[in-house]
Amino acid sequence: MSEPLVLGIETSCDETAVGIVRGRNLLANVISSSVDTHARFGGVVPEIASRAHLEAIHNVIDQALRDADVSITDIDAFGVTAGPGLIGALLVGTSAASGMALALNKPLYGVNHLTAHLSVDTLNNKDSFDGAIGLLVSGGHSSILKIGDYITDVETLGTTMDDAAGEAFDKIARLLKLSFPGGPAIDKISKEGNASAINFPRGLSNNDDHRFDFSFSGLKTAVSRYLQQTPSHIVADVAASFQEAVADVLVSKSIDAAKSQGISTIIIAGGVAANSRLRELAQQRCDLAKINLRIPPLALCTDNGAMVASLTSLAVSGGHKPSAL
Ligand code: KG4
Ligand code: ZN
Repeated sequence: MSEPLVLGIETSCDETAVGIVRGRNLLANVISSSVDTHARFGGVVPEIASRAHLEAIHNVIDQALRDADVSITDIDAFGVTAGPGLIGALLVGTSAASGMALALNKPLYGVNHLTAHLSVDTLNNKDSFDGAIGLLVSGGHSSILKIGDYITDVETLGTTMDDAAGEAFDKIARLLKLSFPGGPAIDKISKEGNASAINFPRGLSNNDDHRFDFSFSGLKTAVSRYLQQTPSHIVADVAASFQEAVADVLVSKSIDAAKSQGISTIIIAGGVAANSRLRELAQQRCDLAKINLRIPPLALCTDNGAMVASLTSLAVSGGHKPSAL
């Protein structure tokens, strides 16, 4: 049998996204985002996100099928993000996916959003690994995972004690009166700033009880206090120094995790993996540590359907059982 043709749906937050893969080959990746609608509220509004998913899902599925040049009846299996995410938003994706699976009598796989973010690395990539450290950094999550196998062997080594990394970017951007979402805005303005202007704290560093955990609340307080105490602050310098503190702690802990587990591959994924300084610093330090660093292309870092299709495809090829409808 040829490799499975899989359609994956992602609606856990504000992106209505559909990806189609054949085996490990990406055929289509269509994304409709409601982020602009949320921007004036400074964060994602769940009700608005659900409604936007409902309005977009049909067209996004149609467009993905057109891009992949396949018909819905050709699809061998459907995948959908089952969680974690906004419940009303998830329901739109799971309803659409179950409807199609039921109508076409094809298997349905509900997949984990976090693992899916990392598994997108397998697309258009023939390399295999015998173990990787996954740094998953998004608006809702910051975790260090140890991955033996994407379906059967994913262990959480550390997670955030408070805010997610992306959430920290969004909150600091708000303090700096930059646009939402904060990550891209901070990334952009930081290019004009001095990253060593202010030495902001690196949360939970040298803390044996939380060796692979993160905390960004102290950093947030430090930035807020600095802004209050320094009326003449330079926004680009504050942004760059904040970004440096986040990138430093994310990279240091991931490399420490890899070394402690005797693992020589690190994969970084999630929206914050789009950050240019994080990518640069991770590459420099991984080169020094002789660690193989993999970061998916930018369009596959933020929420997308290809990641759901990739994880589903691995489940199908591995002979794993579908989920109950
Ligand atoms: O993975 P994602 O698209 O959605 C979630 O599952 O949360 O991540 C969104 C997060 C937002 O917090 C956004 O500010 C952040 O990713 N982000 C960035 C960048 N692009 C997006 N953070 C830092 N630098 C970026 N270039
Ligand atoms: Zn995500």
